[in-house]
Amino acid sequence: MSSGDARKTAEGLAHLCGFGNEHASEAVPGALPDGRNSPQRAPLGLYAEQLSGTAFTEPRAHNRRSWLYRIRPSAAHPAFTRAPDGALRTGPFTQTVADPNRLRWDPLPEPPEGTDFLAGLWTVGGNGDAAQRSGMAVHLYHANAGMDRVFGNADGELLIVPEHGGLLLRTEFGLLHAEPGHVALIPRGVRFRVDLLDDSARGYVCENYGAPFRLPDLGPIGANGLANPRDFRAPVAAYEDVEGPVEVVNKFCGHLWSATYDHSPLDVVAWHGNLVPYVYDLRRFNVIGTVSYDHPDPSIFTVLTSPSDTPGLAGVDFVVFAPRWLVGEDTFRPPYFHRNVMSEYMGLIEGAYDAKSAGKGGFVPGGGSLHNMMSAHGPDRETFDRASAAELKPHKVDDGLAFMFETRWPLVLTPQAARADHLQQRYDDVWQGLERHFRPSAGTSDGTLH
Ligand SMILES: [Fe+2]
Repeated sequence: MSSGDARKTAEGLAHLCGFGNEHASEAVPGALPDGRNSPQRAPLGLYAEQLSGTAFTEPRAHNRRSWLYRIRPSAAHPAFTRAPDGALRTGPFTQTVADPNRLRWDPLPEPPEGTDFLAGLWTVGGNGDAAQRSGMAVHLYHANAGMDRVFGNADGELLIVPEHGGLLLRTEFGLLHAEPGHVALIPRGVRFRVDLLDDSARGYVCENYGAPFRLPDLGPIGANGLANPRDFRAPVAAYEDVEGPVEVVNKFCGHLWSATYDHSPLDVVAWHGNLVPYVYDLRRFNVIGTVSYDHPDPSIFTVLTSPSDTPGLAGVDFVVFAPRWLVGEDTFRPPYFHRNVMSEYMGLIEGAYDAKSAGKGGFVPGGGSLHNMMSAHGPDRETFDRASAAELKPHKVDDGLAFMFETRWPLVLTPQAARADHLQQRYDDVWQGLERHFRPSAGTSDGTLH
């Protein structure tokens, strides 16, 4: 499909609202069975099939599954055989040693002609082990062609963060439209194809091997705020009735496997359940911050969290730095200097980030930075000088959209990321020249160590 036709399709899509809801949708009236999941004969000659995203017995509040009513069951496929992995890598990541240095990359170079979303996936690094269903990976993608094949990832869910170019995601559940500034989530195992809405597309992907992303608890914030559940959009049922060879690629325990089906697996005519792909517009994030002094920790910007078995400790959080007012009195307003037990990969969707000066050789859209566990970071010298001298009037930060994948374990790089031409060589320099301002004579006591 041409990008123009794909855009027309994308812009006319209907959707269902809400995060974690029990949705139901049918592309043909009467395709959903009434009152049961698996009747003796499913309506319209369809096959009934359950897709489980959590163990059958996980607590009801966290249980995710959907029932799919499809032209053929997913089981009707030939054997998969190994396919080249391209630049896609999966945890455990053991090919480089974990690097304590602060690292920053420019955007990926242009891909070769005919690169689809799957071929354009390029792994930066990650942690944990996909086979243990724990940890995560950071990928970039760049593409200039729509997919003729279908992809599904058994290793984890995929949180896609477009930075350039719109996407039309054709999933088993129906179609989704994602533009830069949106995020799209494809649950583990769900088959999908990506059409491009522009000449090319580029962005980031968090592959989460752990528990499915959910909305963070709100605690004393109350019943509303951060990402509001109703702003998450799920597709309505739509199916392909295609008889003929279709290549289906399956990522399983770190490797790609391919099979040629005699039909499209995107043949779900109706479905119901709470395990669904979705899109969320980051500009709808309800940003909460100080109205007195100091900043809350950046966890206040959490959009989605994948919890670990330790309460409060995420396997990975997805955090957005969205447009917001800064009004703190006697407050250093950019993000503060810090060292963090969690590891932080940051990307930029548009504009600039308020702790880093923009421009060539800086932190630019499509680029990324990694501040691994306990690495010291914070505003660069120019930002520090400017913010320390600024007059503290209310100020709106509205010139950028940055995000962070924050994870419990250090990210270990792939060799391609550790040795990339687009890895910046002098990132440490941004913290050079932070001059000594200490003047003991300005205080009242001698606190030096003797
Ligand atoms: Fe940080």
